[in-house]
Amino acid sequence: MAHQHALLLLITLVGAVNGQQQQQLMDYMERRLAVLEERITQWHDQSSRYSTELRDFKNKVISMLEAVEKERETLRAEVENTAVRVDRLEREVDYLETQNPAPPCVEVDEKLTDNQVSTSKMRKNEKYDQLTDCSDTVSQVKAMKILKRFGSTAGLWTKDPVGNSEKIYVFDGTSNDTVYVFPRMREFTLFSATRKAARIKLPYPWVGTGHLVYGSHLYYIRRHGTFQVIKFSLVNKTIVDSSVFPAEEQIPVFGLSSYNYIDLVADEEGIWAIYATQENERNIALAKLDPASLDIEQMWDTPCPRENAESAFVICGALYVVYNTRLPSRSRIQCVFDVSGSMGPEDAALIYFPKRYGSHSSMKYNPKERQIYAWDDGYQLIYRMEMKKKSEI
Ligand SMILES: *[C@@H]1O[C@H](CO)[C@@H](O)[C@H](O)[C@H]1NC(C)=O
Ligand SMILES: *[C@@H]1O[C@H](CO)[C@@H](O)[C@H](O)[C@H]1NC(C)=O
Repeated sequence: MAHQHALLLLITLVGAVNGQQQQQLMDYMERRLAVLEERITQWHDQSSRYSTELRDFKNKVISMLEAVEKERETLRAEVENTAVRVDRLEREVDYLETQNPAPPCVEVDEKLTDNQVSTSKMRKNEKYDQLTDCSDTVSQVKAMKILKRFGSTAGLWTKDPVGNSEKIYVFDGTSNDTVYVFPRMREFTLFSATRKAARIKLPYPWVGTGHLVYGSHLYYIRRHGTFQVIKFSLVNKTIVDSSVFPAEEQIPVFGLSSYNYIDLVADEEGIWAIYATQENERNIALAKLDPASLDIEQMWDTPCPRENAESAFVICGALYVVYNTRLPSRSRIQCVFDVSGSMGPEDAALIYFPKRYGSHSSMKYNPKERQIYAWDDGYQLIYRMEMKKKSEI
């Protein structure tokens, strides 16, 4: 267009001037025209180049977007596929573990006689005379109930298995001097804060998650150089008794939690202490305590390793140790030690707990209710256990 205009203008001008001037003008105009033409050509080139570039770019972007969309699809499919594979793998591992369980650690009499150590007056590794006729063993975890999420990742919640008290005792964290008391389960589950809770401020702070409420008394662990068991009356809120735990060079009892040196537990027979010492650093030790005097009645070196243990409880005179892995997977009972020696190897089955959140910082068996109060990564759960009779050996 610009080209044609310039040409018309030139013709009009040419008609208005004389010969000589005409020639000069013609030359001038021709030069101008040539310059213009060149510029026009350049514009054309450029603009077409621009538009080509723009078109190319647009196409590229579109195809890139398409590729991204496609990749996202592939990625999503891949993630789903991976999740399915992880699930399948986990099931396969579970299956394999059930098919090839680690050898159950059931007490063998000969081994015990070899190991027998005579400690002053304490009976060690001797056969235990059961007080009750309790002959049940865990057959499986029947049900799990998630009550709520409260407090720190580690802690302890429990109920007195003796008497008719409905009170719920809560130890939040791994060391403090305060214990929360909720009047009933209902208050504990309904209220998110500790407003509804009474507080007991103890004369000495507690450490770990191995404390026990038993017969209206709180038995708790204090670290004061060595470890002490403090017996505290929940009725008149005073210390009734205390004793230095007689084990030397204590080490954390469960490989997966560094804060527990002594775990006090109750069962149908009475109260027990689960602990570990430098002397037998690979395995967990067990002691039977007299709840009245805090004296140790008997002690045992169990064959249950500390490594990868996260918690333990005693049911009918048998210690059940729960194992996990450092990156929490499924908790399982993988070692059972029966102090009365009346449990057959077939009773010591590998028992899995349902999939959960993290790891158990405490698992308190309540012999009256036959259920376990567990603290799992800040969640409070109850496991109901299905029991069966021990098979006679
Ligand atoms: C106990 O826990 C409360 C709340 O988490 C905290 O404020 C307090 O400092 C703790 N006390 C001790 C002695 O650790
Ligand atoms: C508190 O109660 C316990 C029993 O739980 C009792 O032995 C003790 O003497 C009582 N202490 C006081 C100061 O009343």
